[in-house]
Amino acid sequence: MEEQKQIDLAVEQFRTLLLEQIARERKMESEKKYTDYEKMDKIIIGICGGDGIGPIISAESERLLQFILKDEIAAGKIELRTIEGLTIENRIAHNQAIPDDVLAEIKACNVILKAPTTTLKGGTLESANVAMRRELDLYANVRPVAVADAGIDWTFFRENTEGEYVLGSRGVQIDDTLCFDFKVTTYEGTKRIARAAFEYARKNGKTNVAIVTKANIMKKTDGTFSELCHEVAKDYPEITAEDWYIDIMTANLVNERQRSKFQVFVLPNLYGDIITDEAAQIQGGVGTAGSANIGDEYAMFEAIHGSAPRMIEQGRGQYANPTSMFKATEMMLRHMGFTEKADKLDKALTYCTVTDPKYVITGRDDGATGAEFADYLMATIEKM
Ligand code: IPM
Ligand code: MG
Repeated sequence: MEEQKQIDLAVEQFRTLLLEQIARERKMESEKKYTDYEKMDKIIIGICGGDGIGPIISAESERLLQFILKDEIAAGKIELRTIEGLTIENRIAHNQAIPDDVLAEIKACNVILKAPTTTLKGGTLESANVAMRRELDLYANVRPVAVADAGIDWTFFRENTEGEYVLGSRGVQIDDTLCFDFKVTTYEGTKRIARAAFEYARKNGKTNVAIVTKANIMKKTDGTFSELCHEVAKDYPEITAEDWYIDIMTANLVNERQRSKFQVFVLPNLYGDIITDEAAQIQGGVGTAGSANIGDEYAMFEAIHGSAPRMIEQGRGQYANPTSMFKATEMMLRHMGFTEKADKLDKALTYCTVTDPKYVITGRDDGATGAEFADYLMATIEKM
């Protein structure tokens, strides 16, 4: 296609995107649906197996849930529902990030426990994670990382529905000349993640929130993000709001003299993605970290890592660490109001990994399998 025609099409596409994003912001402001788990007769938990090591570690967390919620399931207060079809094969076959029928099943649940799904590099098929976060409007990605010995107790509030992700599969290309992707920051989208972070800080007695951007370079999007976070911070005078740039914050997380001072972080989507992998590695690896995707109506809980196809290719799937999914399970229990059960699971995880690590997972056959570790964890809970 001749270049002028491509430019015209790109301009037209930009107009469409702009109108769509404005509409999304307006909808965010006007339509709010809240879920109150305490008032519900029954909570439906949807379990998505995913790809690669997903089905293996997901089966272990389903076993754990059956065990922890035995009484509630028997009494009909909780239903565990397996959702099939969120696989890369099915998504490619339908050419949809989440096929319509699978999305309908997901939406019929109240909370979702999701195993990792494969995300293709390039192409136009959107990531299933990104699609689910958008479709269920899960705007707060909450990722806790703690290392007691090092005085680390961090909670990241990653904006989860916009930034570099919302139009990541809808960029523009002028053949062999240039490519454009878009980064979107909306006012309401920023204020709601800021409120979530400051509200969490207040409820948990935290005194410091780091607002992490690159506002010196991305002046419109990150500049606005930072400004609006400071505006929200005015309603929380007991909490110090500090500005940090993402590059130096990345360094500070490995700076032993600085890092234990940080408590809560609020940051745009892509920076949040990258820095939480770094944080998880400091905790002991991405296999040890869970992630909560919270919206006003729905919530989805997952591991922070991907589907590790290499482990499957090399026949090491049963040695994959399910701890990230167990952490996600703990966060899910807490979110639904099962605080005591969540506390127990948390304590048992610490016992099994730090106090008496009888079954150490290495990801290889010199370590324990995920199933052996899960058995040990459940036996530990039983004794508590
Ligand atoms: C995460 C993952 C996802 C993301 C991928 C799998 C799409 O890295 O949850 O952090 O980039 O958000
Ligand atoms: Mg990530």
